[in-house]
Amino acid sequence: MSSPENQSSSERPATDNSSRRDAPPQASGAVAPPLDGVSLMNYEFTFQQHVDDRVTASFRIEADPNGSRLESPDTHSITSSISKYRVENGRTFHAYKDGSYMYPNDEQELDRQDYQYVVLKHVMGGKLYFAPWSQEKPPRNVLDIGTGTGQWCIEMGDEFPSANISGTDLSPVQPRDVPENVHFYVEDSREDWQWYAQNETFDYIHTRMTVGAWQDLKEDILQKSYDRLAPGGWFEAQEIQCTILCDDDTMPDDFELKVHFDDLEDASAAIGRPLKLAHKFKQVMREVGFVDVEEVTYKIPINGWPRNRQYKQLGKMWEHNLITGIHAVSVGPLHRVRGLNQNQIQMMLVPVRTAISDSRVHAYHKFFIVWGRKPFPNELQTSAQGSGDATMGGAP
Ligand SMILES: C[S@@+](CC[C@H](N)C(=O)[O-])C[C@H]1O[C@@H](n2cnc3c(N)ncnc32)[C@H](O)[C@@H]1O
Repeated sequence: MSSPENQSSSERPATDNSSRRDAPPQASGAVAPPLDGVSLMNYEFTFQQHVDDRVTASFRIEADPNGSRLESPDTHSITSSISKYRVENGRTFHAYKDGSYMYPNDEQELDRQDYQYVVLKHVMGGKLYFAPWSQEKPPRNVLDIGTGTGQWCIEMGDEFPSANISGTDLSPVQPRDVPENVHFYVEDSREDWQWYAQNETFDYIHTRMTVGAWQDLKEDILQKSYDRLAPGGWFEAQEIQCTILCDDDTMPDDFELKVHFDDLEDASAAIGRPLKLAHKFKQVMREVGFVDVEEVTYKIPINGWPRNRQYKQLGKMWEHNLITGIHAVSVGPLHRVRGLNQNQIQMMLVPVRTAISDSRVHAYHKFFIVWGRKPFPNELQTSAQGSGDATMGGAP
């Protein structure tokens, strides 16, 4: 098989959709309007368990020899070079474009990402998207950049069976058993997008939790997305701001978790992968030419400190996500940028973990959802006539 860079669309390492991976438990229940100024009173965390009623106590459950993961990533039929992962400090990292992204891709991290996916879906009221799609107006051709475990693509594929859903990532870690309308490709999205036909356009491009992947929002993804969207198509980002925030005086300046995330932000920025990007999407999308750009933000408590039951539940889930993920988000920057070894990193994380669970500090993360539309040519003309800005948007 040829290297991914040289593959034509017919031989690209798309996933074989022959069987189907089960999805993680899905959330139900009406959830939150955005948190800024609005309460989460109706926030319900009701996990539906998909258990077959016919299963009885006499039924014997077969054990998976591969362990607890839904499907082992190394069962993909992909070029061996892109699955020979870098091993560093007890974690594995993507092999394709080795070194360009600092966060692990091992089972432990994929399990955490699946968990985080469910929590964030709760935060967004069970929604997969804020762009104005519906069963009456479904998207036709959808791209998820930095798809990770591919969960978003799989659920979009289920919700919109007539749509063609593509997910791209540096790591071939997506399951094979996905809806027939879902395909995954190995790609570095910072480079020219090679894997799809040159005349192909999308009507919806999505990213989630990709900060740390981009050097320059505009160049790396937003301009390319704009250029590849059909007029009237939508781009949507669902991204967290890593900075630890607090609205009262309970967070001291030396709060270990805040100091740690500030250091990760500095380290990541030092090698050209800034983490403080979520708040920039709206502005840069407008600069690129998107219209009808909207943004909503949610506050996610770092642990169960809130009095409100729903916030408390959300905080406890986020605490679990942080505790299980803090090594993954730290190990790359601390080793590759700060030069620390595994022991030093583990020692450093001890007080950070304690801080994550410190409910005396009313700290939170901010989660941004930003979406905007590529204008139709007649809108561009009108805008140019009105504003004298003929180059707005840089549309093809
Ligand atoms: C934190 S994960 C989020 C995955 C998924 N979007 C989610 O919400 O669960 C970020 C993903 O972006 C991918 N990524 C990083 N840099 C990339 C690049 N240059 N091109 C494509 N994917 C990239 C990583 O491999 C990783 O799977």
